[in-house]
Order: sequence, then structure tokens, then C-alpha cells
Amino acid sequence: MAETAKLTVEGKTYELPIVTGSEGEKAIDISKLLKETGYITLDQGYANTGSCISAITYMNGSNGTLRYRGIPIEQLAQHATFVETAYLLINGDLPSSCELTNFSDLLNTHSLVHEDMRAFFEKYPRGAHPMGILSSMVNALMAFYPEVPERTEEEEINITVARLISKLRTLAAMSYQISRGHRVIYPSHQLGYCANFLNMMFDSPVRPYDIDPDVVRALEVTLILHADHEQNCSTSAVRHVGSARVNLYAAISAGICALWGPLHGGANQAVIEMLQQIYDSGGDPAPFIGRARDKNDTFRLMGFGHRVYRTYDPRVPILKEMCDKLLTKFGASDPLLDIALNLEEIATHDPYFIDHNLYPNVDFYSGILLRAIGIPLNMFPVMFAIGRLPGWISQWRESIYDPGWKLCRPRQIYTGHKERNYIPVADRG
Ligand code: CMC
Repeated sequence: MAETAKLTVEGKTYELPIVTGSEGEKAIDISKLLKETGYITLDQGYANTGSCISAITYMNGSNGTLRYRGIPIEQLAQHATFVETAYLLINGDLPSSCELTNFSDLLNTHSLVHEDMRAFFEKYPRGAHPMGILSSMVNALMAFYPEVPERTEEEEINITVARLISKLRTLAAMSYQISRGHRVIYPSHQLGYCANFLNMMFDSPVRPYDIDPDVVRALEVTLILHADHEQNCSTSAVRHVGSARVNLYAAISAGICALWGPLHGGANQAVIEMLQQIYDSGGDPAPFIGRARDKNDTFRLMGFGHRVYRTYDPRVPILKEMCDKLLTKFGASDPLLDIALNLEEIATHDPYFIDHNLYPNVDFYSGILLRAIGIPLNMFPVMFAIGRLPGWISQWRESIYDPGWKLCRPRQIYTGHKERNYIPVADRG
């Protein structure tokens, strides 16, 4: 007999089905609760709410596990490319060599952006944050690349997916070059995805960019580690907005906006700003840890804590090792890395952080790595967006083909005024 949970409301007992995932996680299915009992559930911030059933990413917050389509991220970080990982997430399995070639060719085919889009960049106010620019550009893609009625839905989706993955990278690099008043560097069919991006970012007519395979690998790994994280804030935004059946560009644009926030993808920029603040104040992290512990202070240690992980974020050791490797290769040291290591050491031995299960998260070291690669600070969240894009796409795609698809429309408990009468302005005193 199928397992059920029993709920007693106003003396009447209801049996609610229990859903079990492939790794044994359990959920109580409350989809008929309102109809049967007149009650809704209340869960601010959705910390206890499963919003969907998904076969894409598995994470276990107690033991720090993260797998894409069953494959541990440690293995992907060691062996895969970002393009392979994107294919895996979106299509469900690793590509054969022929599928990989076709997918890479498709990305090359769609790597250019319409020349008219330059006008957007040029007229965007100077100093605008690149995440705002990126979300506008992605939304605008729909107008530049409208649907073609002769294509099947599947063909249209495949082309849109390739366009997004390829053009997001081109748009990001273009925005950087234009923001500096420099010439736009076009993508090249001769270069792989990450090498292409680095070249578009840093090549210059007066100083050709020297593509270093270790830097390319560091970028591959960073993007792989960001590629999906199940129902996080931006992915939920993509699914939520997508549930209204908007086009994929609009749903991804919403995801970029959600990711921008400092509690989510904007944290990688906020971490570096915090480490810089510690450096500028003499280099001692202790007062900052003290502030983070203080209930009367809103300050939080950026790059620490996670809604799901109650232990080390499994992406952290990989990024940390990559930082060490890259800085050693360049014979460089980064004072912010030294402060980060010191901060981690103190915080992870501090009773407040231990009691609250607060450990460094992905954003704590990704910023140091991006700095070592040469990415400017305000582009850090953009790098997160490029990495997360395959995850957003795969989650969106899964949702639109889900037979249980529904418009996302949560309810609320209203605590405002009871009915009252309108008072004409002259009588309001
Ligand atoms: N520094 C100090 N205290 C913290 C921190 C922190 N970074 N994070 C959580 N806490 C405390 C919080 O004050 C609360 O304490 P108490 O129970 O005594 O009131 C407790 O831990 C639980 O906090 P919460 O805000 O209810 O937990 P949450 O699961 O909603 O928050 C979080 C998750 C990521 C928003 C939060 O840990 C945070 O703000 N971290 C800093 C920002 C950051 O690094 N974000 C990146 C997240 S990982 C990558 C990504 O998603 O993009």
C-alpha cells in the first residue's frame, strides 16, 4: 500500500500521499489540501516546499553532495568541458562525440549578435550594472530573433537554446568592451567556448590576448560548478515566469534579475567588496566576524551560509584548489585570498558559525578565481549567469514538458483591514 501521511484538521483526518525521490527524499503531496480541507500551507521563503518534481540535479545539504543528471560535480570539474556539461543538463545524458561536435557547431553558428543590438549598449547609461544590461539584452533577443512559423516547436526550442548559450557569452564580452570604449571583438569558430569568451573580453587591436590553457580550464571549471543548483532563487524565477508560458528569452531575463541580488549570484561581487573592506581596515577579519554575530547589526559575512547546505559546499574545495593553482602558476599572490583563508579559518571555528551551520559557499572563492583570471568586479555576477544558463534552460524545458505543468500561483494569508468604506477626500481630515 502506498505510504501516506495523516493530517487532522478540525477533528477530521485526511490522508496525504507521500512522494519518494530516487535518492529516498520524501515529500508530503498537499496538492489537494485546499480543495479537501479549505486550508493552505504557509511557508515563507519556501524553505519546506518542493515546487516541482525534477530529474536534473540532486543535492544533499547534510553531506554536501551535488550531482548533475547523476554525475558528481567533482568528476565533471575534473574531466568535462562546460559545453559538454550544458549538453548533459539540457538533454539528460553526456553527448556522444558526434552529438558534441554538432552541438558545438550549432553554438558557433549562433555566436554572433545582430549588429543593431550595439545601439542598445551604446545608449545604455554609462556606469549601469552589467547584470541590468544583460537582462535587457536577453529580453531584446526575442525581437531580433522572432519565431519562424515553419519550424516545429522542438526545432524552435533547440535553436533558441543554442542562441542563448552562445550569445549570452558574446553579449557579456561586448558589454565589457563597449563599457571601456573599446572595439568589439567578434567570436571565432576556431576557439572553444571559454577561450572564445576570454578572447572577446581581453583581445585588443594593440595587444593581442594570449590564451593560456590553464586560465581556460579555470574558467571551464568555474562555469561547470555554477551550471545548476536545483530550485534556487533564480531557477525558481525562471520556472515561475516560464509557467505563464512566456518565451524562453523572457524567462531567462527574469532569472538574470533574480541572480543579480547580493543574497544570490551578486554575492561573488559582495565577497570581494567585503574582503577589500577588511584589507583597507588593516586586514583583521575579527571585527567583521563580530559584526556578523551581532543580532543588532544587519551585516552578514558574504559568501557564508546556504539555504540547503548544512556543511561545506562541495564546490568550495574545487574552487579553492583552482585559485591556488592559478596564483602559483602566475607566481602571484592575492592579499584578498590570504584574508579569505584567514577569515574561513576563524569563522569555521567560531561557535556562532558552527551552531548556525554556516560554512563558505561557492561565492566565497569564485571571486578570487575570477580576479586571477582578470574579470572585472562588476562582471562577476555576469559570469555566474553564463554558468547558470544551462541549468535555467534545462529546468525551463523540463517544466514545459511536465505533464503535471501548472501556472505558478501561490496563495497567501491576508492580514490587512477587514472591509471598510471609501471616505471622500474632503471628509478625511
Ligand atoms: N553571516 C552571519 N549570519 C548568517 C549568515 C551570514 N552569512 N547567513 C545566515 N546567518 C544566520 C542568520 O542571521 C540567522 O540567524 P538566527 O537564526 O540566529 O536569526 C540564521 O543564520 C539563518 O539565516 P537565514 O537568513 O534564515 O537563512 P537562509 O537559509 O534564509 O539564508 C543565505 C541563506 C544564503 C541567504 C544566507 O546564508 C546569507 O545571507 N548569506 C550571505 C550571502 C551569500 O553568501 N549568498 C550566496 C548564497 S550561495 C550561492 C547562491 O545562491 O548564489
